[in-house]
Amino acid sequence: MPFEVPALPYDYAALEPTIDEATMKLHHDKHHQAYVTNLNSAIEKHPELASKNPEELIADLPAIPEAVRKVVQNNGGGHVNHTMFWEIMKPNGGGEPFGEIGEQIKSDFGSFDDFKKQFNETTAKQFGSGWGWLVFDGTKLQIVTTANQDNPISQGHYPILGNDVWEHAYYLKYQNKRPDYLAAWWNVVNWEAVNARFATAKSYKK
Ligand SMILES: [Fe+2]
Repeated sequence: MPFEVPALPYDYAALEPTIDEATMKLHHDKHHQAYVTNLNSAIEKHPELASKNPEELIADLPAIPEAVRKVVQNNGGGHVNHTMFWEIMKPNGGGEPFGEIGEQIKSDFGSFDDFKKQFNETTAKQFGSGWGWLVFDGTKLQIVTTANQDNPISQGHYPILGNDVWEHAYYLKYQNKRPDYLAAWWNVVNWEAVNARFATAKSYKK
């Protein structure tokens, strides 16, 4: 069974005005689909990889045959990253984080506002295409960035949340103003989903 782009859990326009409908259509139907199509082409050439799920594939890149390793890194990463991205957003989301992730953010960053500031500043500086991430190192939360479609899971860190700062994620509405997109994005975060990912991150073993 080849990999598939999961259906969006809400309408294309549901995240307006934070993320516009046209961006969501292109991002989900074209960009995410392209990653999945390219990943499936690589798997076709190496059917032994089909038994693993996409997270397992990118968690152990050295185990991927060299001929398709970069394709799996980029497109497997693209698939995993975007699958998470749709899940951790929702219409009428945002607000203060609650539950265990809310407590951990307060404990590690002082306040939600301090955390957001640090996340936005760090992610705004990511040169070129990439992602800003919140990961758990076993003791504390950390903010990290990656280039391209690299995912922290390849370094042993299960991502709790991530924001896409490829221009395709924001350029139609925000043009070159990446910091404005980063600031607005918190209005659509689904903290229930982020709490579920935090629970997974705490028990994650490669
Ligand atoms: Fe993207």
